[in-house]
Amino acid sequence: MRYWKYMKIIFLVLLSAIIVTLTVQKVPYDQFKYLMNNSLVEHLLHEEPCACGKHCLAASDDNWFSERFRDHVHPLLSLNNSVLSDNIFNWWKTLQSTKSKANYSQVIQKLFSVIPGEDRYRDVGPSRCRTCAVVGNSGNLVGSFYGPLIDNHDFVMRMNKAPVEGYEKDVGNKTTHRFFYPESAIHLDNNTHLVVLPFKLLDIQWITSALSDGSVKRTRFKVIDKLQTNKDMVMIMHPAFIYYVRTTWLHLRRSYPSTGFLVLMFALHICDEVSVFGFGANTKGAWHHYFEEMPKKFRRTGKHPGGLEHQIILELQKRNLIDLYAGW
Ligand code: C5P
Repeated sequence: MRYWKYMKIIFLVLLSAIIVTLTVQKVPYDQFKYLMNNSLVEHLLHEEPCACGKHCLAASDDNWFSERFRDHVHPLLSLNNSVLSDNIFNWWKTLQSTKSKANYSQVIQKLFSVIPGEDRYRDVGPSRCRTCAVVGNSGNLVGSFYGPLIDNHDFVMRMNKAPVEGYEKDVGNKTTHRFFYPESAIHLDNNTHLVVLPFKLLDIQWITSALSDGSVKRTRFKVIDKLQTNKDMVMIMHPAFIYYVRTTWLHLRRSYPSTGFLVLMFALHICDEVSVFGFGANTKGAWHHYFEEMPKKFRRTGKHPGGLEHQIILELQKRNLIDLYAGW
């Protein structure tokens, strides 16, 4: 009799612990079912690195990935991390040399008087499951009907001037983040995050000016001088992050990574699950677009190591680290 009384107490204590844990971790019903099917006790004892059922990118134990992925290199510039080592600053200066003689620290100070300077997306943890769609501009999206699938992600990241209107069935209509540099800028609505890719100091001066007095009118050529976008949602990719992608992932090949590859790397760093759409050259090896005819001048992959980037994307897919949708 006494034995059963103790057993009942132990059972009730265990049950309460399970309910409290599930409530604190905000585990939804489908995940609760998943936990039940996958040894509940094991999951309660070992806290998951994120709340996605499938995989949690940052916690991957894949060796090939771990050799390249540097968790501590944050993709965004903030007031806390804006200092650049001489090594990186000197490399960055040569990237797209322009005549800017401005002082880096003053440029950064001015930047963060216009846009927020706080750290963002440092929220990885057991209660987060952030799914992201990275949408490149490849012509392989035409006829794909990926639209609803793309829109089904928490974050939908698009780049440069790629339009959505008129292409919804293939590319979706949700955009949470748009990435561009001054020469590929477009006006944005009030709810889209802008991530500027700075390939030179003048690019940071441009965004500061484009959100204030409009004094910078040219970079490498004439650019938008007054940008419509929500200042509070503007972010800048960290030059040290571009350097890391070029050195650690691309082994210094060609001048610098493509916009698409940088966005994919950004997503690997801030998302738990990443799906990739709109990447891939045409049969002639050229980067064609889903929204325009191929320009007369034959354009392969520009200054970017397109072949190597593609191999890496395929490797990430092979290792089940991303879901690659290859289009048509
Ligand atoms: O051409 P654009 O740079 O605007 O395209 C955005 C990105 O999409 C590229 O930087 C590249 O990474 C990717 N892309 C691709 N295949 C194409 C076109 C673009 O992988 N055919």
